[in-house]
Amino acid sequence: MDVRVAGQADLTGQVALVTGAGRGQGRSHAIALAAAGADVAVLDICRDAEVPGYPLATRAELDDVVATVESMDRRALPLVADVRDPDEVTAAVAAVEGTFGRLDVLVNNAAVVTSAPFWELAEQEWAAVVDTNLTGVWRTTKAAAGLLRRSPRGRIVNISSTAGQRAVPEFAHYVAAKHGVVGLTRAMAIELANDGVTVNAILPGAVDSPMLAGLAVELGLTPEDVHKRWLHDQLLIEVIPADEVTGALLWLLSDAARHVTGHCLAVDGGALAR
Ligand SMILES: NC(=O)c1ccc[n+]([C@@H]2O[C@H](COP(=O)([O-])OP(=O)(O)OC[C@H]3O[C@@H](n4cnc5c(N)ncnc54)[C@H](O)[C@@H]3O)[C@@H](O)[C@H]2O)c1
Repeated sequence: MDVRVAGQADLTGQVALVTGAGRGQGRSHAIALAAAGADVAVLDICRDAEVPGYPLATRAELDDVVATVESMDRRALPLVADVRDPDEVTAAVAAVEGTFGRLDVLVNNAAVVTSAPFWELAEQEWAAVVDTNLTGVWRTTKAAAGLLRRSPRGRIVNISSTAGQRAVPEFAHYVAAKHGVVGLTRAMAIELANDGVTVNAILPGAVDSPMLAGLAVELGLTPEDVHKRWLHDQLLIEVIPADEVTGALLWLLSDAARHVTGHCLAVDGGALAR
């Protein structure tokens, strides 16, 4: 391995699937994977849901990701699907196989968030967050497992959160789901190791994205409130740009990380150091 390029992912000839790719971190990931040489299937729900209260990505946003990938001379496949729906997820993965005939990289990124004390969470709110953020990861990976196991270098990266390793008040459902993603990552890493597939989790801190902005608007928070509530315990007290999370993803997909599996990589301004 050439140490000068050891940390750079070369995904030439590979195919990646990114969920929640219409905007925010998923958009950044999808475009960077294309820049690294991959053809990319970009999946998003492309409609608002009853939970959360903030808007989700639109079809126009997903189409813009597709156009950006295509402008880099890579192929892009838009997939409008809800990770809560097994039939839609199965059909989306079948479309990936039909279009590209293979899948090498899966990034489970789609998620939603709401905030309230646990005793005030509605059944529907709990169900939506756990079904999207945890079960959606299992469901998508289950559907894609056959293709990933046939890849010569299958890689799965699940986007958890610092809330996957510690509790945050008024996010019990999100904390439970993101802890679940960490456990699921480890379990899948064990079960896929014999096929040479690595499975890792990234744990972002407070990231500059429509999720953070949407939740702040929904809760009526000022930027100062956001700072006080979600940033104060980072050692580096700044909102993290999405492309820094993408940088961690690219390292996990590089040859330098060939023997990294079952790992949790925090990109959190040091929040988990406390
Ligand atoms: N923003 C933060 O501060 C932060 C912090 C830690 C972890 N994360 C995690 O990072 C990931 C990306 O979040 P983001 O900040 O880019 O948020 P975002 O809201 O901008 O992006 C999430 C994407 O997922 C899509 N999505 C939501 N529900 C879906 C469903 N049922 N099926 C398919 N797609 C669906 C949305 O349309 C959206 O495009 C998430 O897993 C999130 O939990 C975010």
